[in-house]
This record gives sequence, structure tokens and C-alpha cells, in this order.
Amino acid sequence: MATSISNCIDKNNEQTLHLISTQFFQMVPVRRIQWGEKSLCLGNIGIEDQQAVLEATVSSTLCNKYPTSLSYRRAFVKYLIQKLEDSDVELCDEIYELYTDLLQETEEEEDSLCYKSYFLPNKEIVNLQESVHIISQGTTGLSTWQAALHLSEWCFEQESLLKNKNVLELGSGLGFLGVALCKQCKLDSFTFSDFHPQVLFLLMKNIEINFLNEQYSLECPTFLENSECKDRKMLKKIKRQLSVSKELVMEDSCEIMQISYNSMVSSTDTMEREVDEQEVGSEQEEDVSNSNDHFLSSNSHWSPLNNSNVYTLNHSDSIRLMKFNWEFCNQKDLCKIQPDVILAADVVYDKSIIPFLVQVLYQFLSGTFGSWPVAYIASTVRNEDTRDHFLVALGNKGLRYEILDPPSEKIFHYDDIIPIEILRVWHPSNKTL
Ligand SMILES: C[S@@+](CC[C@H](N)C(=O)[O-])C[C@H]1O[C@@H](n2cnc3c(N)ncnc32)[C@H](O)[C@@H]1O
Repeated sequence: MATSISNCIDKNNEQTLHLISTQFFQMVPVRRIQWGEKSLCLGNIGIEDQQAVLEATVSSTLCNKYPTSLSYRRAFVKYLIQKLEDSDVELCDEIYELYTDLLQETEEEEDSLCYKSYFLPNKEIVNLQESVHIISQGTTGLSTWQAALHLSEWCFEQESLLKNKNVLELGSGLGFLGVALCKQCKLDSFTFSDFHPQVLFLLMKNIEINFLNEQYSLECPTFLENSECKDRKMLKKIKRQLSVSKELVMEDSCEIMQISYNSMVSSTDTMEREVDEQEVGSEQEEDVSNSNDHFLSSNSHWSPLNNSNVYTLNHSDSIRLMKFNWEFCNQKDLCKIQPDVILAADVVYDKSIIPFLVQVLYQFLSGTFGSWPVAYIASTVRNEDTRDHFLVALGNKGLRYEILDPPSEKIFHYDDIIPIEILRVWHPSNKTL
């Protein structure tokens, strides 16, 4: 825990600037930001150093294109000003100008989504739209969870495991893991999946932000405003929904997990209905199973794979998105994936969904759909009882599992006070092992 700004921050001190900017773009609470090893001596941070910090964070091109939340940017600059003023150093003019500009910017009522950016070891960046509301210890109602960051770090260290492989992710959420692996590793294909319409919508947008061509991404972040009318309506509803739930402040992250997803699920039907009524009121509902993903079927960048719920991005088979609810396995869809590896992060948090999750794993791992994958599942162990319940369910299905060593290097910024465990799960008849 460091709360002082390094006296050694200067343009040449790439490492310190990198440390500060990676935390800024992941929106690490300002009071928890580490300012570098050689901290203290606030009195010595010069004008150029201050400018360098601003250029690596709030004033950067990246921040302009994929801004962190307005309140976070304000808090960050305010904190810098306070620390510098406390130490009686001369402040650069830019810092005051910037702060005034930020104060003048109005926070829209529905500004409940912002961007977070994650820096990969190969210098690529994952840019994601996430919820702005931090509920407890960096977790939010619709955000990237610690287990996904942890699992990605582990995967980066297992190059051969994923090289030229077809990977399926269960419960992708906002897509961090898949986007990071597609950018960092040489995969054959990656199939993102989730069932929740709001999550699926943001997942689709996040994949587009990261993988559509440069010209398209240069239009960010305004491209959403230019996107199709239905998309805009959907996004507006999501933002409204998130701002309604922003008052939710809880200490128990398990409860948060249940509440945030359950409240989203319960609100989704209404939301979808409203969008449908307003936007496609005259259209007949052709297929109940497809009513929630009209945004996928009406988006020109995505094409369904042989009339299924699996969509491919820009006709390339390497990035796919599948609408998949573990409670309703559609053999036709699942046969299309043929994964070599199955990944999942933070999907073991609710006992009631464990039987469905385990059944899905069993079907894939026992070769039902034509391939013999191995699964790697990362879980934040908030409740040992829930974890044990999962392990027993795996054992009852005759599946084998082992707990793996954690990654040796931590790349991203996240709390791991609550332990995160990575399990390898496989079927005993798997001859590929
Ligand atoms: C805690 S989030 C984890 C998201 C992401 N893997 C991460 O770690 O950031 C759990 C995810 O599982 C998905 N999920 C929950 N129940 C599901 C089900 N029955 N079928 C498919 N996905 C489900 C949720 O929509 C959500 O995206």
C-alpha cells in the first residue's frame, strides 16, 4: 500500500508510468494506487514529471478514446492536486485546467457504463465497457471478476495448452478472458458464451470494440451512438438499469454476486419486452428462443452459423459468440463448437446453478459432442460450502479434477484476499491426455 507520488517519476521512468497508468485504466481506487517503489519526497516531483503522469493517464489518447468514468478521473486528478499541494511543490498549469474541465463536464444520469483497459504482456490492450459502480472491494454488478484476471494470467503461462486450440468459455460475462487470450495467445478459435441478454449485448459490443478493424474502432467511443437504433435503445436501458441499482452497497461479496445477477435477470424480461415493444412493436415474435438476441441477428457484423445460436464475427470462424443457457442445452448448437479446451471464470457462486453447469461439463468432457476437451475453471472461493458442493457434483458424475498451482506472475491489479482456485477437470475416458 503506497499513498505517495514518486519523486522519480520522469519521462524516462517507463516502469513507474506504466504502473500508474495500468492502475488508472483498471480504475483501481485512487487511495489504493501504488505510485512506484521509489516513493515519498513529494516535494521533488517536478512540472515535467507531473505532465508525464497526466499524459500517461487522464490526458492520454487511450483515455480520450476509451474513458474511465468521469467520477474516477475527477477523483484521480483531485488526489494528485491534493498530494502535490500538501507537499508545497509548484503545480503544472495543465493539472488545474484539466480538473476544471472535468468539473465542468456533466455526468449524464445514465452514465453508468465506462471503459476499463487492461494491458497485456505483449503490449496489446483489452478495452471493455463495464459498469462504473464499485459495490465492494473493486467488484461491481457488471464487471470483470478477479477470477477471470487470475485465469488469464495462468493461461499466459501455459502457451502450449492453448496454442492452435479451439477454446470454449462458459459464462463469459463482459469478455475479458476471451479477448485477452485471443490477443495474447495463438488460438485456432475462441467461442464466448453467456445466456443473459444484457451481458450478451455488452459482450458483443466488447468483442466488436476489440476486434473490428482499426477504422471502426477509431470511431470509439462514439460508435455506439452511431450504431443501430435497437442497439442504442438496448444500451440506454442497460445504463438506466445500472444506475437504478447503483445504491446497492454490500460487504458480503457472495450476496453481491447473487443480488447483482438475480436483479439483472429479473429486470431483463421487462427490459427486453420494452425494447421489443418500442422498437419492433409490429414485428411478430418468430421464435421465443431467439427473442432475446435480436441484437445479434440484426447486427451486420455477426452471422449465425447454420441457423444456430452460434454467431461468427465478420464471417471469420475464429471468434464466435454463442447464446447458451446451461439449463437448456441445445445439442444442435453445442455440436458446432468441438472445443479442445473449456474455460470458465467465477461461475461457481450459486448452488442452484451447479447441477446445470456440471451437466454441461459432463456432456462436453465425455465426448458427447464429438471432441474430448479438458476444462479449466477458476473460482473465487467466497464460500467453501459452495465450492465443496461443486466438487462433490463433479465426483458424482465420474469426472476427475485437480487443483492447479496459481500463476507465478501477477500481471493485473485485483484483490486476491479471498483465495482464487484453478481446477482442471476431465473425464477418465479421455484418451487425448
Ligand atoms: C460472476 S459472472 C463471471 C463473468 C466472467 N466469467 C468473469 O469472470 O468476469 C458469472 C457469469 O455466468 C453467467 N451465467 C450464470 N448462470 C448461467 C447459466 N445458467 N447459463 C449460462 N451462463 C450463466 C452470467 O451471465 C455471468 O456472466
